[in-house]
Amino acid sequence: MDVEGQRRVLLCRCGKSTSAPLCDAAHNRERAAPPSPAPEASAAAGRRRRKGDLAPDPEMWQWLDEGKKLRAILQDFYGRVYADGRLAPFFHGVTKERAVEKQYSFLREKFTGEACYFGDRPRNAHHWMVISNELFDYREELMEECLRRAGMPEPLVARWRRLEEVFRKQIVKSAPVGRKIRGVELPLHGYEPLALDLDFLCGDCAAKVRQGETVHYHRRTGRTYCVRCVPDPSKAEDLLAPSLEGDSAR
Ligand code: HEM
Repeated sequence: MDVEGQRRVLLCRCGKSTSAPLCDAAHNRERAAPPSPAPEASAAAGRRRRKGDLAPDPEMWQWLDEGKKLRAILQDFYGRVYADGRLAPFFHGVTKERAVEKQYSFLREKFTGEACYFGDRPRNAHHWMVISNELFDYREELMEECLRRAGMPEPLVARWRRLEEVFRKQIVKSAPVGRKIRGVELPLHGYEPLALDLDFLCGDCAAKVRQGETVHYHRRTGRTYCVRCVPDPSKAEDLLAPSLEGDSAR
């Protein structure tokens, strides 16, 4: 499809495209996989685990009642995040359902070892966010309160915290960085078209843009705009960044 006479090209965000850096919809093919694989499929998924992946935690998954309690915990957590003056601004345009769903599949993959998460890895998902160590701790404490409210035993709370700590270095920073795809850092200016894997809200008119449609992703602020609201690309750098940049990393 064309926008103002220009050919639309989608860049790969999941790192699985065989035509990288262009998207070949590999993310859609993989997402079509059943959510609860049969044992043989599970074994195949297990073999796909990458070097450096964390060890699964079957005891945690069992306590989470095979995911039922995990979903309830995340709904409680994001309910609080979206009501929190420090954390909510990062989620501008992100529906709560999307935040819960992404986090659910990410954690499910970590706890079970099944390859069921197809979103960005934490470094890329948070590439534009200026998150200090103190803010990271603050979010972690909010999460721990939710785990304890759900009755999680202390040793499991400590293991959950250790899991999150693995990602601190990728997430805490004092300035935005470009997303890295196959070792290549993408620029931090301008827009890129992005095919949605889950519903999003336009950063301007707040209309819901449905899964499968395309939005324009502003690389420095992480904001997404529907095709009607995408600002003039020549003025991209004049866009208001979410007022988060004063929150510098330690
Ligand atoms: C202060 C700390 C954090 C903030 C403010 C934050 C904020 C966000 C926001 C706004 C998104 C939505 C991005 C989008 O949908 O485009 C997101 C996605 C995500 N976050 Fe965080 N996050 C924090 C910490 C963490 C930690 C500690 C983890 C992992 C343990 C994590 C894992 C994820 C994952 C897996 C996603 C989904 C990525 C995707 O959309 O593909 N985040 N986060």
